[in-house]
Amino acid sequence: MKPIKKIGVLTGGGDCSGLNAVINGITKTAVYKYNIEVIGYLRGYNGLYHNDFIRLDRDRVSGIMHQGGTILKSSNKDNLFNYATKKEDGSYEYNDVSDVAMENMRKEGVDALIVIGGDGTLTSARDFHRKGLPVIGVPKTIDNDLPATDVTFGYNTSLETITESLDKIHTTAYSHDRVMVVEVMGRHTGWLAIEGGISGSADAILIPEIPYDLNKIAEKVRERDAEGRHFSVVVVSEGAKEKGGGVHVRETVEDSADSMRLGGVGKVVTDKLQELIPEHEVRYTNLAYLQRGGTTSQFDRVLGLRFGTSAVDLLMQGGGGKMVRYRGRDITHVDLEEVVGGGHVGETSEGGAKNVDPNGQMVRSAKAIGISFGD
Ligand code: F6P
Repeated sequence: MKPIKKIGVLTGGGDCSGLNAVINGITKTAVYKYNIEVIGYLRGYNGLYHNDFIRLDRDRVSGIMHQGGTILKSSNKDNLFNYATKKEDGSYEYNDVSDVAMENMRKEGVDALIVIGGDGTLTSARDFHRKGLPVIGVPKTIDNDLPATDVTFGYNTSLETITESLDKIHTTAYSHDRVMVVEVMGRHTGWLAIEGGISGSADAILIPEIPYDLNKIAEKVRERDAEGRHFSVVVVSEGAKEKGGGVHVRETVEDSADSMRLGGVGKVVTDKLQELIPEHEVRYTNLAYLQRGGTTSQFDRVLGLRFGTSAVDLLMQGGGGKMVRYRGRDITHVDLEEVVGGGHVGETSEGGAKNVDPNGQMVRSAKAIGISFGD
């Protein structure tokens, strides 16, 4: 294999806290430990296509460890293997432009790529590896829906925000005897809702993995009323579905690898619950992008940094086509081929999205303390 003298880095998909910690780890390891060059492509695969990049060195990554977002910017569009171009009539034409990116890297002398992203971004990482480029993936997403890693970075910071928000929401719920419905992100998985909901003392949690019946939630509210607790907090995952119903789509982004954007189920739940429990005021809050931003938590700083340093080590040991992962308390790796696409259920499934197990220990613990899932 050709010796690696220069690596490219990009961040793709929705931003989250910890991206800069990974970039910091990659850059310092490359510079100090291996004495090689690093460049960062801007706006994910868009920068790779347009050859738009910045040099990453000790000075450029100084002081970024704790900062949310990404100094490289991000995009959840630009699948170079199925690149969307808008035509005059408003429709889209799709082409494979990945060779343009390969040529850009060849011209710049980039020998390998580290791709930091979620499912869509890592699918393209796998495809670049199939074209012969040494690529390492780093698992990012607040949704924690990537299999083969116990946890993605960004998830922990998001949970901290959800927990703090629920603590705040509780004060109004209590003071006004209200039922507060709080919508959280997570795409088609309920990790943010269940872990955030448990730590923020939610009374009901609606997740995609357990279709709900709102009559059950109304019952739960009335039970609490009877116990003298005249307030309730209901956490709703954006991908939650009523029994026999479907997901609520907020918008469709045509030129995105995963075009469906979820959202709005919390408002529907609020309106329906209000009809079922007219004796209460039911109010709705959507935490939306607050969950993606902010100062990176201690856990995500260390996890991001360890992912970054391990990704460079792996590349330098000739390990292209892998994704670094967190297993137990260690950083190991797994083939990218095994971790992208699909859709399996199980808390530790290998391959496919990682879902909350409806009969798993997390759900059982929540139910044991009286949290309703509307089932
Ligand atoms: O994957 C991260 C995420 O924040 C999801 O939780 C959410 O469904 C989606 O991205 C929102 O995407 P956008 O930034 O396009 O609204």
